[in-house]
Amino acid sequence: METKKTRVGIYPGSFDPLTNGHLDIIIRASRLFDLLIVGVLRNDAKKTLFSMEERVDLVTKCTVDIPNVKVEMFEGLLVDFVREKGADTIVRGLRAVSDYEYELQMAMLNKHMSPEVDTIFFMTDINNSFLSSSLVKDVARHGGNIHGLVPEIVVDDIYKKLKIS
Ligand code: PNS
Repeated sequence: METKKTRVGIYPGSFDPLTNGHLDIIIRASRLFDLLIVGVLRNDAKKTLFSMEERVDLVTKCTVDIPNVKVEMFEGLLVDFVREKGADTIVRGLRAVSDYEYELQMAMLNKHMSPEVDTIFFMTDINNSFLSSSLVKDVARHGGNIHGLVPEIVVDDIYKKLKIS
């Protein structure tokens, strides 16, 4: 009898920090796979507000209730991480046409390097279509209200990190 192959998907990103837009994609993508691994990029060349460990912790605490979601850090090429995890699908979110060019370029480059790996896109929920980690940080940095933009349990972490009470 043929045994069913475990379907593993990878949702990669910087997640500095996780937003409600990311979380919505995680929830929806988790329904397509037996296991969805959220891959948090370690990139020492890029300055991030949260350390790699902190970003992994933030995503982990927001996804503990989704049993088939695991959070892991990765470094180096995404396609290598995908292969190492026995996955064949990369998940990304698309907010607007402006995302498309960069996302298409990444998807095509990844396909070129690893033809067995496909990238699938989720259209971001309309309510989150204006959201980005950078804008969230900018609003918080200037003392603005970020409730409703990020999961409630990370709001204080962001203000604390920016030393705003
Ligand atoms: O959340 P982001 O910053 O838009 O995510 C970008 C990410 C992590 C998906 C991308 O930078 C990436 O895959 N980096 C790993 C290095 C790599 O594989 N580069 C070549 C393909 S773009």
